[in-house]
Amino acid sequence: MKVGIISLLSESSKMIGKECRDYFDKVEMINIRDVNVSSSTNSLETLYNAKKLDTFDCLYLRGSYKNALLLRAISECYLNTTYLPIKPDSFTIGHDKFLTILELQKHGIDIPKTYVASTISSAKKILETVNYPVMVKIPSGTHGKGVMVADSYAAASSVLDTLEVFKQPYIIQDYVETNATDVRAIVLGDKVVAAMRRKASNGELRANIHMGGKGTPIELDYNTERIAVKAARAVGAEICAIDILESRKPKVIEVNLSPGLRGITSVTKKNVAGKVAKFLSERTKEFTENKKKENIKEIIGVIDKDKNEIITNLDIKLGRIRLPQIISKLADIKDEEEVVIKVVKGRIEIEKH
Ligand SMILES: Nc1ncnc2c1ncn2[C@@H]1O[C@H](COP(=O)(O)OP(=O)(O)O)[C@@H](O)[C@H]1O
Ligand SMILES: [Mg+2]
Repeated sequence: MKVGIISLLSESSKMIGKECRDYFDKVEMINIRDVNVSSSTNSLETLYNAKKLDTFDCLYLRGSYKNALLLRAISECYLNTTYLPIKPDSFTIGHDKFLTILELQKHGIDIPKTYVASTISSAKKILETVNYPVMVKIPSGTHGKGVMVADSYAAASSVLDTLEVFKQPYIIQDYVETNATDVRAIVLGDKVVAAMRRKASNGELRANIHMGGKGTPIELDYNTERIAVKAARAVGAEICAIDILESRKPKVIEVNLSPGLRGITSVTKKNVAGKVAKFLSERTKEFTENKKKENIKEIIGVIDKDKNEIITNLDIKLGRIRLPQIISKLADIKDEEEVVIKVVKGRIEIEKH
């Protein structure tokens, strides 16, 4: 089995790559800066240093919000043929805090009340109705850097004016009292494999480790674990970190698609990168098995492997013939491609035009 990890080659991505060597025959570490995607009417290709990127059994994509569109495009190229732990549209959702909130809301997951407005004057109307302090966030911020706390209408109003000057989009969010703590949970599939409670440093309300927050290992209760798994599913990510505020009911604030692993590894003393690698290999095996089964279901018997002849029952609906998926794959004929079809009684030939 071969895995590709496309990333910014951060320390965490390298940790995962190293652990993958225990589970995959081949591990390819690819710098996202050398990758681009080309799309034309009939093709969608990922290029790596100007050559078509290889095929993989598993492709794990990591990067920052700046790479969100590229990550989505790469994963679209490999959809259906390769195991992808993160669905293409997750990259656009997960790298935008407001799109994430919308998705969580749709799936009935508790969130802090969050507001979005298109003009400064309508945003200020919101500020007249909220309780203080209030949070103002840049939708694509990370490491706590795009998160601002305003203690009063005057403070919040001047934050909005400043963001307007810098043409930065923002969201306004109710402050949830947690004594400056939050919970970070690493989700792999339907489990939380590591979790910590982070406490912000003195005088700070943002609990991010990058902001000086200190973590302690915790075991999540059943309910909070289910919420974390549900949040991961809501955005379509089988591997991610979920940030949760522990209020009367746990509220999810963020889904991180490329979580840093150093902090959580040293706090929980768990080999999180190893768990990610193992999860990738197990899910890749499942994916490959399921694909094989799908193809076998369609084919009754193979007459001649070299000639690619197969026996199957024709699926004819309303007079239209649907051929098994393997046939278009072997013939390398794409949807809407122009072909010449020659028909005589008892025989059909399809050829690329
Ligand atoms: N609504 C909120 N109420 C209270 N604290 C919050 C709220 N939103 C964020 N925080 C604090 O700020 C930190 C960073 O917020 P988050 O939305 O996770 O952005 P980032 O992507 O920068 O980590 C959180 O870890 C938490 O400590
Ligand atoms: Mg966060």
